[in-house]
Amino acid sequence: MLQKFDPRNKDILIYVNDKLVPRDEAKVSVFDSVVQGGDAVWEGLRVYKGGVFCLDRHLERLQHSAKAMAFTQVPTSEEITEKVFETLKANEMYDDTHIRLTLTRGEKTTSGMDPRLNTFGPTLIIVPEWKPPVYDNESGITLITSTIRRNSPMHVDSKIHHNNLINNILAKIQANVAGVDAALMLDAYGFASELNGTNIFMVSKGELFTPHADACLHGITRGLVIELARKIEIPCIEKNISLTEMYNADMVFCTGTMGELTPIVTIDGREINAERTVFNQLLALFEEIKGEYCIPIS
Ligand SMILES: Cc1ncc(COP(=O)(O)O)c(C=O)c1O
Repeated sequence: MLQKFDPRNKDILIYVNDKLVPRDEAKVSVFDSVVQGGDAVWEGLRVYKGGVFCLDRHLERLQHSAKAMAFTQVPTSEEITEKVFETLKANEMYDDTHIRLTLTRGEKTTSGMDPRLNTFGPTLIIVPEWKPPVYDNESGITLITSTIRRNSPMHVDSKIHHNNLINNILAKIQANVAGVDAALMLDAYGFASELNGTNIFMVSKGELFTPHADACLHGITRGLVIELARKIEIPCIEKNISLTEMYNADMVFCTGTMGELTPIVTIDGREINAERTVFNQLLALFEEIKGEYCIPIS
């Protein structure tokens, strides 16, 4: 499922280096930390009906990632919110929009790894694009299991939402080569962790299961789905889940800002059951509460 270029995105304005500029002029320095070492943190956000969905939760995660990476001179969440709203208003984007928000450690005085070479403060980049959810929540997506493992806190903590996305990109390449939509990544012990860009859930006998957020990103959508399940009294259990359990589940789905809630139809060629009662309840509730969780663009 390759996203097509939306011609409305030809003339968008992008926020970078404290300015709003046309996309062709939106550039960072070759000395920027994101170029030098993927040394940046990011969030993907979605705009629905005049508001930014879970903006507060995304900015909290961005701040936590920046703190873990020991960034200095980090703009406050209020300052970032102001810039996000300014960018959306300049583009007249109030719905149907995806935002890629990146905060790099900033420009370096010379090429190198040492954060002491960063004397200018971070670079904030806000890329808003017209983009509906990437996956179809009716037809679903297909998976293979990747040989690339998701990082545990033993290596690089997956709770930092950083721009070193190479393990996820390698997994996605494996999915592309296999002719499926995405890759299921395992943790260091061989249990399911998450997909290359979304979290994973399994339904079995009316209960919901998801891997512990140890080797996966603690997704905002994942967190919300757990909250919604509890609200409608569907038990949700975080546990180690093996591939055999996934193959034999009553239903498997993934969650994330890019695709919202999406059924999984096959994993490694095994057809996954499509008992969608729990999924449909969660999806309906997710649609219902979306507005409540949006921070209005002002
Ligand atoms: C690796 C990975 N897993 C899961 C997610 C889903 O997280 P969220 O629900 O916060 O979009 C993302 C989103 O960026 C991701 O990059």
